Amino acid sequence: MEIVDRIIISEEDIQKRVRELGEAISQDYAGQTITLLCVLKGGLMFLCDLAKHITQPVAYDFMSVSSYGDATESSGVVRITKDLEESIEGKHVIIVEDIIDTGLTLNYLLKNLHSRNPASLRICTLLDKPDNRRVEIPIDYVGFKVPNDFLVGYGLDFKQLYRNIPYVFVPKKEFIQD
Ligand code: IMP
Ligand code: MG
Repeated sequence: MEIVDRIIISEEDIQKRVRELGEAISQDYAGQTITLLCVLKGGLMFLCDLAKHITQPVAYDFMSVSSYGDATESSGVVRITKDLEESIEGKHVIIVEDIIDTGLTLNYLLKNLHSRNPASLRICTLLDKPDNRRVEIPIDYVGFKVPNDFLVGYGLDFKQLYRNIPYVFVPKKEFIQD
């Protein structure tokens, strides 16, 4: 694709790692029912692939938060734009995220979700960008640690596009400059 400068994580590597994460979750939650809480829209692709490798009964629920707008840097403003449909009280919940960058979004979400009294609450993120972290976040499952670049693909968007690309890439500078 023309926008691609360089591929950071190939489709093959993503699929392999997602399978491993699904298997790890299946072991850790043996005998339990899991609610996968997808943070839209970035977590959607990851949730679909991950869920295929979980052997427990799984329910989905979806939440939308806005933190970025269409800018490429975090605004620090977090707002729930779509809330869960089901109560999570007494449930084993795993938050499924595309990437944890500053951590501001999840920091807010964790507090909010803990107050709803789930039986357990863990975080599974495909990508972790630790260099840009502004608040400490307890991450239970990480696909890949990535450098502090603006990344696109496999759920990550640039101006709402390219989430469908099956690999993660750095876009060409000329595409993301205004
Ligand atoms: P945080 O609040 O800074 O941790 O960022 C959380 C959200 O920002 C992620 O779930 C993504 O939707 C978005 N985000 C962070 N880094 C990137 C990136 O490199 N490309 C695209 N979206 C990103
Ligand atoms: Mg996200």
